Amino acid sequence: MKIVVLAGGLSPERNVSLSSGAMVCQALRDRGHQVALVDLFFGLDDWDKEPEALYGAPIPEAFLKVSRQAPDLDEVRESRKTKGPSAIGPGVLDLCAGADVVYLALHGACGEDGRIQAALDLLGVPYTGSGYLGSAIAMDKDLTKQLVAEKVTTPKWQTVTVTEEDLDTLTAETELPVVVKPIASGSSIGVFIAKTRQELRHALEESVRLGGRTVLEQYIQGREIQVAVLDGKALPSIEIIPKQGFYDYENKYQPGAALEVCPAEIPREWEEKIGQAALTVFRTVGLAVYSRADFIVTEDGTPYFLEINTLPGMTPTSLVPQEAAAVGIGYGQLCEVVIQKSLE
Ligand code: DAL
Ligand code: MG
Repeated sequence: MKIVVLAGGLSPERNVSLSSGAMVCQALRDRGHQVALVDLFFGLDDWDKEPEALYGAPIPEAFLKVSRQAPDLDEVRESRKTKGPSAIGPGVLDLCAGADVVYLALHGACGEDGRIQAALDLLGVPYTGSGYLGSAIAMDKDLTKQLVAEKVTTPKWQTVTVTEEDLDTLTAETELPVVVKPIASGSSIGVFIAKTRQELRHALEESVRLGGRTVLEQYIQGREIQVAVLDGKALPSIEIIPKQGFYDYENKYQPGAALEVCPAEIPREWEEKIGQAALTVFRTVGLAVYSRADFIVTEDGTPYFLEINTLPGMTPTSLVPQEAAAVGIGYGQLCEVVIQKSLE
C-alpha cells in the first residue's frame, strides 16, 4: 500500500509525534509498504520535493528521538510565520490525496483533535483511528468527563479559565490536593499535582501563562493503570510505576524512568472493571479502531477514569505497543491492524 505517515505538526507534543511517526514508518516499510513520513507542519519543505523520492527517503535524524524537553514552540511559531498562516505545510494535502491511507502519528492539537481528520474527510482520503467528532470530544477533558460521568467513575472536577484576577481566590478556595491540567493537552505537558497552596499558586500561574481553559481535578490516591482498546476489545492493562514523582513528560519518554508492568498485577475483577470502563468511554465518546484510556485505581479496585487518547503514543517507550505485545501482536502487526480496521 501507499501510505503517508503524518507526524510532527505544531502541538506541544510535536517531538513525541515525530518519534511515533518514525517508528510507524519503519515498521510499515519493513512490512513491504511504500511509506512517506511527512511532518504536518513543515510539509515537503525539508524534503526532496518529488513524492516518489519521498516515499523511499530515509527517516531524518530529527524524527528518531523524543527530546526530553517540550519543543520550543516560539521557535516553531516563528518559522510558521515565514510560511504563512497555515498549520499544514506545503504539499501535505496533495501528498495525502495520493495515498491509499494516511497513518496519523500526530498527538495533541491540530492532529489528535479532529481537525486533520475533518480535512481528510473533505478530501475523501481514508485515515487511521477515530473520526473528527470523537477525536474532538476526546481531546477536551471537560467535555469527555461530562459525557461519561454518569457511566464511569471519574474524579470530581471543575473547569476554569484562570486569570490574574482569580488567582488569589482560586488558590485559597480550591480543595487540596488537586491536579491542575490544561483542558486539551497530552503527555502530561502543563500538568501539576498541587498538594500545598504554594504549589497550587504556581500551577495556576502557569495556567494564566498558557491561556485557555484549565481543569482542576480531585487528586485520587491510587495506582496508575492504563488500558488500550483495539478492534472492539480491551487489551491487557498496564501499570505504570514511575521511579520518582508522577508519570510526567520525563518519566513517559526517558527509557527506564518508569517501571511498566503488563499485564498489570491486579485481581481479575479489577482487570474486567477497568476494561469495561475503557470500552464504555470508547463507545460513549464515539471512537473507532483504537485508543488508550488512563485510570487511577484505588485500593478497593475502583477505576477512576482520567482521559482517553485517540492517537496514543507509538514511541519506543509507549504503552499501547506493550499491551498489544502481551497478546502476541508485534509492533508492525499492530500498525497493520490499525490500518485494516480503519479501512473497514
Ligand atoms: N499523548 C501521548 C502521545 C499518549 O497518550 O500516549
Ligand atoms: Mg493524554
